[in-house]
Amino acid sequence: MASFNALVMKRLGVYCSGGDAPGMNAAIRAVVRTAIVNKLEVVGFVGGYSGIHDNKHLSLDLRSVANIIQRGGSILKAGRSPEFMQAEGRKKAADNIKANGIDALVCIGGDGSFTGAHTLWNEHKIPVVGVPGTIDNDILGSDDTIGFDTAVNTALDAIDRIRDTAASHDRLFIVEVMGRDSGFIAIAAGVAGGAEDIFIPEHPFQLEKTIEIIKRGMARGKTSSILVTAEGQKPGRAYDLAEAIRKHAGLQAKVCILGHIQRGGSPTANDRILASRMGMTAVQLLLNGSCDIMVGSQGESLVMIGFADALKSKKQVNQPLIELAQVLSN
Ligand code: F6P
Repeated sequence: MASFNALVMKRLGVYCSGGDAPGMNAAIRAVVRTAIVNKLEVVGFVGGYSGIHDNKHLSLDLRSVANIIQRGGSILKAGRSPEFMQAEGRKKAADNIKANGIDALVCIGGDGSFTGAHTLWNEHKIPVVGVPGTIDNDILGSDDTIGFDTAVNTALDAIDRIRDTAASHDRLFIVEVMGRDSGFIAIAAGVAGGAEDIFIPEHPFQLEKTIEIIKRGMARGKTSSILVTAEGQKPGRAYDLAEAIRKHAGLQAKVCILGHIQRGGSPTANDRILASRMGMTAVQLLLNGSCDIMVGSQGESLVMIGFADALKSKKQVNQPLIELAQVLSN
């Protein structure tokens, strides 16, 4: 957490970094509109840190963010930047920010993006406020991130559809969801979708227990089951899990990997509202001279958390949700 002289602030930059997430456009819209209402000019960097490094930017006015609140993806694109990993690349990016007369930035992205923003402050004193935008929901200090709710609902819709065909054909399905090395999407979509078992990286993998659940279900007449696995689950991903179940229990499982479908689509109302609130708050924090922080959602409130604190450790999956999944899978 740090402060800077916001009285001299005239131009604000905004960018989306990391993987895109539904609701990023709603956040951009809120940033631009709040900034303009407060007499700031706004510049959007295209393609995240690569755009800052390559000086690819455009002016944003009230019209440029019209009709985007409902659109998935990011009108500013998004991405991960290898150049920005190097001190030399960051220096070039900082020079571009200064040469464009940009006094502060709003970064919409995940933990990798916030690491970059924290470094920009430490090395070049560029003030940045972060808005957590990632479907993974893995940002410490924020209950929710922009895009998570939409991704969970997309995964849930797929699980419901798979359940129809699984029931018609008496099949066992394994549905793999995204989340990198976190199980937030898996546990939420699995609980909401009534999965027979859920595999997440944060919880020990117990194949015997899963096989027992499936067999117990079969003994009482159940003919189809759905298992949900996070992509980051160890020791393996969906196909390895299917192979292990075949080997240990002689059961055939169909695999469905949802992949990037979870990153697209129109954001839910929750994501649009969260993004709008966070975008506005990010600009207000900069106007107050606060920087090197992100906006977090905690309960009904928005709070500010220093990047250093948010990046300190891994956010844990809610234990009561894990327990709920265990009880209901019986
Ligand atoms: O961080 C968002 C995310 O979609 C993760 O869930 C996933 O592991 C990763 O990005 C995929 O990245 P890429 O789009 O580069 O394949």
